[in-house]
Amino acid sequence: MSEMSERSQREAVLAETERVLRQNWVTGSRGNVRFEYTEPSPGRYPWQWYWDSCFAAIVWRRFEPARARAELESLLAAQRPDGFVGHTIFWRRPVSLLRLLFYNVTSRASFQTETIQPPLLAWAWRIAVGDPAEESRIAAQMDWLQANRDLEGNGLLWIVQPDESGLDASPKFEPVWGRRSVGRLGFPLLVHRNRRLGWDARRIREAGEPVLCEVLVNTLWSLSLQAMGRPSATPALVERLWDERRGLFFDEATPGGRIAVNTWASLAPLALPDLPEAIGRRLVEEHLLDEREFWTPVAPPSVAVDERGYEPDGGHGPIRRYWRGPTWVNSAWMVWLGLRRLGYEQEARRLAEGVIGAVAREGLREYYDPRDGNGLGAKDFAWSALIAELADPRAGDYL
Ligand code: GLC
Repeated sequence: MSEMSERSQREAVLAETERVLRQNWVTGSRGNVRFEYTEPSPGRYPWQWYWDSCFAAIVWRRFEPARARAELESLLAAQRPDGFVGHTIFWRRPVSLLRLLFYNVTSRASFQTETIQPPLLAWAWRIAVGDPAEESRIAAQMDWLQANRDLEGNGLLWIVQPDESGLDASPKFEPVWGRRSVGRLGFPLLVHRNRRLGWDARRIREAGEPVLCEVLVNTLWSLSLQAMGRPSATPALVERLWDERRGLFFDEATPGGRIAVNTWASLAPLALPDLPEAIGRRLVEEHLLDEREFWTPVAPPSVAVDERGYEPDGGHGPIRRYWRGPTWVNSAWMVWLGLRRLGYEQEARRLAEGVIGAVAREGLREYYDPRDGNGLGAKDFAWSALIAELADPRAGDYL
């Protein structure tokens, strides 16, 4: 592509991200609490999702910084007195009766879920707003996570359901939760069981139910710790989850041990500035750049091409099953950060071109076919606005 048309493609993509963010912006009040946030996708996802908001805020800083702050402030406005902030916040209306079966709420009247999503708030705040250490409510949320989810006392967090990772139906959860995984018919049974156990990670573990030390959650947690000026969790992540033989990061389950299913989450630690360089190079050279695993035309697919569960077209059937093959823009951004940091300039450019091309043709979709960039899932999907970070990198921001 000529330099000129490449530039106009990038400009078109930026204009589209701004259009979608503005279109999806909602504001209102619940009692005397004001909320403002970006709907992940109009109609399909009406509520405020924790990690979607963090990603949206990162991009809002380019167009209207006050909205980046307002979006994250709305998450904090939902915070419980003990510091907890849920995975989904039902500002505008409660969950429907049907969704009660598989939503992590104590009752229909619940204002938010009892589960978490990847805790990147402090990192997002650092990128989009300022110093998170000056906002005591962010510290309070992190203290809650540490007190309730650091089950081994080594600084890593544990999750109690697959959807807490944001990677809902990824095949890597099937060896752990089996027929009770997200997207399987038994998932409501897991929700029911955890509801009875109060979504308390220690009670869940003591009851013999699975708990998981997951790579992506802990990568984003480590980025948040570093953004706060707290000790990094990266050394513990390497110690506990790095598989030296395979050259990949894998989750650890109790019970179950190491879960060696190769998904993009195994590469997510590339986003960590303090990842040991030799590990970063192995992730890139042995896996990301391998066409049999992640180096597809629109990379990285959410599951390695040679994994059994790989479904690049998003799968079929009545139940939506996410994260089983298609490429998501937040994942592309995180591994691209690593490529840039480690000096793989040409490869970073190739990866960016793949996703930018898909977004330019298809708009901001929820995810894309990794082979041809066909747009899949929800339309006008807000966090795909992260494409702006690849289309218009700003040196000095966080790179
Ligand atoms: C899906 C995704 C999850 C996201 C949510 C809202 O459930 O798997 O990561 O937060 O949709 O966009």
